[in-house]
Amino acid sequence: MANILKAPRGTMDVLPDKIDKWTYIEYTARETANLFGFKEIRFPTFESIDLFRRGVGETTDVVQKEMFTFTHGNSNFALRPEGTASTVRLVLSNGLYNDPMPLKLFYITSCFRGERPQAGRLREFHQFGVELFGTAEPSADAEIILLAKTMFNNLGIKGLRLEINSIGCPNCRKDYQNALREYFTSKQDGLCDTCKSRLGRNPMRILDCKSPECQKIAEAAPKVTDYICDDCRTHFEAVQNQLKNLNVDFIVNTSIVRGLDYYTRTVFEFIDEKRGLTLCGGGRYDGLVSQLGGPELPALGFAMGLERLIMTMDEQGCSYETEQNKTVYFATIGDAASKKAAELALKLRAEGISAEYDLVGRSMKAQMKYANRKGFAFTVAIGDNELNSNTAELKNMQTGETIPVTLDDKIIEAIDNAIVKETMKELEETIEKDKIFNS
Ligand code: HAM
Repeated sequence: MANILKAPRGTMDVLPDKIDKWTYIEYTARETANLFGFKEIRFPTFESIDLFRRGVGETTDVVQKEMFTFTHGNSNFALRPEGTASTVRLVLSNGLYNDPMPLKLFYITSCFRGERPQAGRLREFHQFGVELFGTAEPSADAEIILLAKTMFNNLGIKGLRLEINSIGCPNCRKDYQNALREYFTSKQDGLCDTCKSRLGRNPMRILDCKSPECQKIAEAAPKVTDYICDDCRTHFEAVQNQLKNLNVDFIVNTSIVRGLDYYTRTVFEFIDEKRGLTLCGGGRYDGLVSQLGGPELPALGFAMGLERLIMTMDEQGCSYETEQNKTVYFATIGDAASKKAAELALKLRAEGISAEYDLVGRSMKAQMKYANRKGFAFTVAIGDNELNSNTAELKNMQTGETIPVTLDDKIIEAIDNAIVKETMKELEETIEKDKIFNS
């Protein structure tokens, strides 16, 4: 019998001690996207299977091998393997193509791909993705790349290599596909079965097959950059010039073709140099909107994997700047004290101050130990004496310092003042540290 207590292979639980990393990255993603004028969207976890077949491409690994599909009634669905097809569907079904252009959207969402799990490759993973609609200008390509770079800077991630390429448009693609077909036909015997089936329909997909044999053969395949038309070449040169103007370092890697069928012209990846792991991938998809039944609407975007961001940030010792938000813990003895604590906690929470009290029935000593372990900034112990005098001691858990407080509305002001004092102290210490560091 399958072990029901084990999370499914390639999925992850996120425990309370790690959640701050996630919320910090999600917060930074929202802030960064907002800085560039992008608005958040949400779409369903599953969509019609045909959306991904037509959107992502029938001959891609994602569609051929990796989608989680299911049937309900007479309909066939797939869990979303990525966010771009869903975003285009959302734009079309809600008529957002009538909005003033450019349309700037972003999402933070889970994705599902039945890949073989390994470090940085999961079956359920999370993406921060941005999609920009309504412009074919090279400046938009540079802007999207700059947004990804700004996100990495804001997270403090270093040592990434930006690789860019142009894979041309459907016009120049034809000649390239023919050249590839000719090359791979001559090497057919060494290809995996899936790639043999791709030869006729879409030989470009052989270039991103994960089988080592196919990868070896692909190394000497014709390069797309030798086949792109003048318009695509001019566009690519303009993107590169714009990136230089913006001081964004990059290298042109003519082997990048990306694993999804919708891309046209610019494609790019940010790669963690140390691990060789792609943290972010994206590019233009000027034909996708019309291909899915909408108007001609050029578009582009990227997505970055949150799990891969966390892996890299952990490895590089980046700070998550988590906020310590456990403020007051009431340690109590007896029912009356517990009732008083509940009443005071309610008042404090109404003022935006986090407050907790014992829900387990532990001894006073055990409660204080708990408060210490959980990192509460302050504690207030309440027993019969405190109830009778209506006063107690507010203890600063870091310094051990205590101040008297009354067990009524006035406690709010007292705790507020104590928080302000503590914050000022921390600020002074930081300024002092900076002075030493800079001298
Ligand atoms: P993608 O390259 O398939 O592109 O995925 C983007 C990012 O998602 C990858 O660079 C990686 O960080 C993360 N990722 C992908 N697969 C996995 C996995 N199995 N486990 C963990 N992380 C993974 C797209 O999905 C496109 N929709 C990006 C895009 C948006 N292009 C234009 N707009």
